[in-house]
Amino acid sequence: MQNQAIGIFDSGIGGTSIWKEITALLPHENTIYLADSKYAPYGKRSREEIIKLSIKNTKKLLELDCKLIVVACNTATTNAIQILRSTFSIPFIGIEPAIKPAAINTQTKNIGVLATKGTLTSELFAKTSDLYTQNIKVTEIVGTGLVELIEEGKVYTPEMYNLLSSYMRPMIDANIDYLVLGCSHYPYLIPVLKKIVSDKVTIIDSGEAVARQTKTVLTSSNLLNTSSEKGNHLLYSNTDIKALKDIITTNNLNYQIDTLAF
Ligand code: DGL
Repeated sequence: MQNQAIGIFDSGIGGTSIWKEITALLPHENTIYLADSKYAPYGKRSREEIIKLSIKNTKKLLELDCKLIVVACNTATTNAIQILRSTFSIPFIGIEPAIKPAAINTQTKNIGVLATKGTLTSELFAKTSDLYTQNIKVTEIVGTGLVELIEEGKVYTPEMYNLLSSYMRPMIDANIDYLVLGCSHYPYLIPVLKKIVSDKVTIIDSGEAVARQTKTVLTSSNLLNTSSEKGNHLLYSNTDIKALKDIITTNNLNYQIDTLAF
C-alpha cells in the first residue's frame, strides 16, 4: 500500500500550488492529480453540486488506486470533506483558509480573507472564523472571476491587476496587516498582490501546512512510502491540458500530464 499514490484533486489547476508543496516535502511519494477544469469554478456552485463533484473525483482517484486523498480545494473542503470522510474509508486531508495564524499574529487587529463565495458562505468557515476572530475585524472578499482568469493563463494581465486592485481596496482601507488566501488558485497571484498591497501586509496560504499534515497522517497510518526512488507524478485534466502544462514549470520531477475523462 505504501507505494500507492497520494491522490489530489481541485476544481482546476490551482491545487497544483498544494501539489508543489507535497512533492517538495515528500519526494519519494507518487502522486495523481486531478484538475476538474471542466466543472470549474466550484466557488459559485451550490453545496449539493460541490459534494457531487467531490464524490466523482474521489471515486476516480480510488479507481486509480490512491492510498490517501488531498482535497486541494478550499471550496470542496469546506463544503464536502465531512461527507467524504463519512462515505469513504481512506484518509482525507483538506485545506481551509489559514485564519488562525493571521488572527494570532495581527497587530492592527484587522485581517483580510480572499476566497470563493462557496468557501465564505460555508458552515465550516463560519465556525473557524468565529473561533479565532472574536476581537478582530475580518474583511471577507469574494474573488469573483479570479479562478477563471487563472484557468485561462491570464495571471499577468491588466485585467487581473485591475480586478485584484478592486478586491484589495476595502482591505487596504480597513488597515489589514494579514491577507489570508482562501483558495488554492490564489498563491499564483502573490507576485501581482505584492504590487498592490504594502509590504507591511503578510500574505499567507495553507499549502505548506497541508503538506505537513499529509506527512503526519501518512506516518501515523503507516502509509509513508519508504522507497528511496524519486516519486512519479501523473497529472490529469478533463479539458485541454495546456493550462496545466503552463503552470507546472519544474524540471526536477518525474511527471506526465494527460487528459482523462472523469
Ligand atoms: N481552488 C479552489 C479553492 O481552493 C476552487 C476555486 C473554484 O473553483 O471556484 O477554493
